[in-house]
Amino acid sequence: MARQPRIVGIGGTQRPRSSTELLVSSVLDICASHGAHVELFGGERLAALPHFDPYQPERTEGEKELVEAVRRADGIVIASPSYHGGVSGLIKNAIDLLEDLREDERPYFDGRPVGLLVSAAGWQAGGVTLAALRGIIHAMRGWPTPMGIAINSIEQKPFAEDGSVRDPQIAAQFDAMAKQLAIGCVGLSRMD
Ligand SMILES: Cc1cc2nc3c(=O)[nH]c(=O)nc-3n(C[C@H](O)[C@H](O)[C@H](O)COP(=O)(O)O)c2cc1C
Repeated sequence: MARQPRIVGIGGTQRPRSSTELLVSSVLDICASHGAHVELFGGERLAALPHFDPYQPERTEGEKELVEAVRRADGIVIASPSYHGGVSGLIKNAIDLLEDLREDERPYFDGRPVGLLVSAAGWQAGGVTLAALRGIIHAMRGWPTPMGIAINSIEQKPFAEDGSVRDPQIAAQFDAMAKQLAIGCVGLSRMD
C-alpha cells in the first residue's frame, strides 16, 4: 500500500482503565509505531453515542465521526468485554450504527481486515464472545484476522498500572495481530 494505512479501533467499557480499551489501544499503538494513522473510539466516545435507530435519519456528530472513520479505514480493530456470555451493548450499538455504510460502494467492513479481541472474567465467556464477534464481522463482509485474542482479566491481569502490557505472551499476540492487519490491508487492497 503506497499511502499511510488508516486503522480504526472500537472498544472499551465505561470503567476507568477498561481492560477492553487497553486491548484495542495496545494493537493500535503497534500499528502506529509501524507508520499507520490510527484513531480510537474508546469507552467514553462509545458511551456518548445514542441508542442506534435505523429509522431516524438524524445523526449526532459522534455518530458521524465513527461512520466516517470506518468508511475511510483500511483496517479495523474491535474489542468487547464479555457481558453475560456475549458482546456488550455498547459495542454492539456502535457496530449496529455501521448499518449507515450499507449503501456504500464498499459496504460495512467489506474487503477490510478486522482484528478482534475480548476481555472476560473467565475462560469460557472469552471464547464464546470472540466467536460471536467473528460471526458479526463475517455478516458484515469483513475479514477477521486469523489471530483473535481473548484475555481473562482476573487470572491473567495482562496490564500494569500504567496500562503497559505485562504479559509477554499477550504482547506477542498483539504483535501478530498488528502484522496480520498490515498484511490484510496490503493484500486486500491489491484486489480493488
Ligand atoms: C454486566 C456484566 C456482565 C458480565 N458477564 C460476564 C460473563 O458472562 N462472563 C465473564 O467471564 N465475565 C463477565 N463479566 C466480567 C467482564 O467481562 C470482565 O470484568 C471484563 O474484563 C471487563 O472489561 P473492562 O475491564 O474493559 O471493563 C461481566 C461484567 C459485567 C459488568
